[in-house]
This record gives sequence, C-alpha cells and structure tokens, in this order.
Amino acid sequence: MALDRNSSPNDLSAFWMPFTANRQFKAAPRMLVGAEGMYYRTADGRQVLDGTAGLWCCNAGHCRPKITEAVQKQVAELDYAPAFQMGHPKAFELASALRDMAPEGMEHVFFTNSGSESVETALKIAIAYHRARGEGARTRLIGRERGYHGVNFGGISVGGIGPNRKMFGSLLTGVDHLPHTHLPDQNAFTRGQPEHGANLADDLERLVALHGADTIAAVIVEPMSGSTGVLLPPKGYLERLREITRKHGILLIFDEVITGFGRLGSSFAAEHFGVLPDLMTTAKGLTNGVIPMGAVLTTAGVHDAFMQGPEHMIEFFHGYTYSGNPIASAAGLATLETYREEGLFENAAALAPYWEEALHSLKGLPHVIDIRNMGLIGAVELEPIAGEPTKRAFTAFLNALEKDLMIRTTGDIIAMSPPLMINKAQIDELFGKLTDVLKALD
Ligand SMILES: Cc1ncc(COP(=O)(O)O)c(C=O)c1O
Repeated sequence: MALDRNSSPNDLSAFWMPFTANRQFKAAPRMLVGAEGMYYRTADGRQVLDGTAGLWCCNAGHCRPKITEAVQKQVAELDYAPAFQMGHPKAFELASALRDMAPEGMEHVFFTNSGSESVETALKIAIAYHRARGEGARTRLIGRERGYHGVNFGGISVGGIGPNRKMFGSLLTGVDHLPHTHLPDQNAFTRGQPEHGANLADDLERLVALHGADTIAAVIVEPMSGSTGVLLPPKGYLERLREITRKHGILLIFDEVITGFGRLGSSFAAEHFGVLPDLMTTAKGLTNGVIPMGAVLTTAGVHDAFMQGPEHMIEFFHGYTYSGNPIASAAGLATLETYREEGLFENAAALAPYWEEALHSLKGLPHVIDIRNMGLIGAVELEPIAGEPTKRAFTAFLNALEKDLMIRTTGDIIAMSPPLMINKAQIDELFGKLTDVLKALD
C-alpha cells in the first residue's frame, strides 16, 4: 500500500475534474473553502455571491442549520441500512413528503443518487411498464434536441447535446429526437414563455407515423431545459405533448432535475405549467445538494402495473446500493422542511417579476443577443467570438468571479439560478456586477 507518496494538499494532478477544462483550472485554480447563505468563501478569503445555487442545487442556500443538524444526527444514529429487502423509517417518510408536495397524481417514489440515475431509472421503468402490461414491443425512447438528461448511456442517448454524445460511440439503439424549441428569430428577448413554437410538439406525430405508436415507450423532455442554456417551453407546447403522448399510449417523462423544488416558484414545473406527466425525475434540490440523492416519481397507474405475480418476487429488477440512504433521506426531509418553513418557493414566485426586470435591463449591453427568464432562472446569450465559440462567455465567467460573483456558462450562454432565499438587494448586487462584466467584455 503506497500511502507515503509525499502528496501535498496543493497537488492538483490526481483529481481528474468533471466537466472542467482541467489544464486551464490547474494553471489558475478557483477554490471554494466555505459557504453560508447566499455566499461562498474562496481560499483567499473573498465572499462570492452564489448566482447559481451551486450547480442548480442549493435552493435553500448554503450551510442551512436544519439540514446540517439533521445530517450530523443521522450519521451518528443509523449511518447505513441495506437498500434491498430492508428498510428504515426516514426513506418512507421522505417518499411520503415528496408525494405530498408533488402535483396530485404522482403517488410513488423510487430513490436514486443523482439526476443521471433518475433518468436511467425512469427510462427503465417506462420500458418495463409496457412489458408488464403485455406491450413488450414498446421499447423506443424519444428525447429532444438540446435536451440534457445527465451523463449515463440512456441519458446521453435521449439527450440532444452534440459534444455529450459524439465521443461515446453508438449509444442506445431505438432512440429518436423531437426538434428543440429554441427559436431566436421569433422569440428573442421574450419575458417568460415564448409565443412561438407550440407546433414543434406535433413532430411527435411524425415519429409515431414513422415508427408506429406500438413501438414507442416514452417521450422524455425537460419542461424547461436548463443546462443547455435555459430554453423555455413555448406557450401550449407541453400541453400539446401531453395530448399526443396520451392519445398514443406513450408515457411522458418530465426531467425535473433542475425545475423541481421551487426553481420556477412552484414545487415542480408540472404544477407550474399545469401538465401532469406519467413520471418525473428529480435530484439536486431534493437534498439542497448536501448529500447526493435523486428520486423518480410515478403515477399509481405506472407503479401498479408492476405489482403483479407471486408476492415473494421482486417486481422491478432495479435499484442502487444507496437508494434511500439514511443520511440522504435525513437531508431530504430537513431540506423539504426548510423550503416549507421559510416559504422559499413563495419567495421565488414573489421575486420573479423583480428578477425578470433586473435581468432584462441587460438588453443593449455589448454582445447580448438574447435574454430569457422564468421563476428565478435567467439566461443571457452572447454573440460568440467568430471561430472561438464559448470563449466570450467563459471570459465573462472568469471576470465575474474576479468581481465576487459566481455565474455559469453553457456555450456562449450565461445562466443564473440563485438560491431561492435571495432578496432584492442581492438581486441588485448580482446584476450590478454582471453589468460591469458585460460592459468590459471584448
Ligand atoms: C435536466 C437534468 N437531468 C439530469 C441531470 C443530471 O444530474 P446529475 O448531474 O445529478 O447526474 C441534470 C444536471 O444538470 C439536469 O439538468
């Protein structure tokens, strides 16, 4: 065992960082060492305003006492319980709490450890559901261009991000994609849901005609695409998708990994848009990002299709060692309580108009070609530098950090999604800093 390797804390070479320009980072590291409320603290002692709730996950803000205490207590009381054929109370409590806050009709909860695993789980449930009902030919999955559904093979197959797909071979077979709904020519600078594009859902009819409804298991979409640059559903689009999927017996999966837990000012996007899917995938805000956890919610109809056959047999051959982990469950329960006690979803809804106003005041600044928003989400799209896509936004990200503001970029799009505890003064601080950054951009 080679423990004595003379490693020092500032040796950055071993850690191969995820979704990171490793060489650039290690040449000029950006280290966070503490956090409280709306702010991170950097290694050099600066307070950085968190404009992104970590990675869209710390919706209640950082180091919230109730969550911290729940985790500390749980780890000392029951650290781990086998997830298969055994239970512990907190996983059941959390499942019930989730069901109670979800739109009516979502009745059952399957725990995972991340958004990616929630997506794989939902896709497997969809295929197995049809098989359980004697429609085993329904195996085809339909995603959407510019969709992001995590990084596992199912997720990247139904997802629609080129760089996320093209490196990894042939992916799943039997997958097709709807067109994305981003129509800058018609919808640029729209506040909230855009007017144009509901008809893009009709493309599903084309795929049904092509493949046959009896081969299609499910359609998966983000009700609002976050990671690919905040792409909002056009008015009427989700309703239309629901109508067509229902007509053809196709399950509709909403990937709510980002839109869940108050981001749009409602518990879930399904509630916000008034469209009930058959399955919902969640993660991130479920535990405020504190302990990895995800969950798939299903209707009774989906769940009950599995509950047949001999009672001693496992109904759904799927699960993770850490599904419903006690510490994650305790974090989840404390997180949902914090949301409720502090009225954080209501705060997001109340501040959304102020956020929208402040965000759209950036219109007219150099290189800004579109601005999009909903709830406490905002995106500023920049004109790419010719021949150097992503560089302009990445520079904005680095410059914002210099000004003690953390934003996120995807391509040449700046995305913002602050903790839902934000107040008006902090919104002013965020957009004040971003204005300075944008004004100074080449
Ligand atoms: C819509 C959506 N699905 C899935 C994922 C993947 O989640 P994770 O990174 O927890 O695996 C993400 C992450 O951003 C997401 O935005």
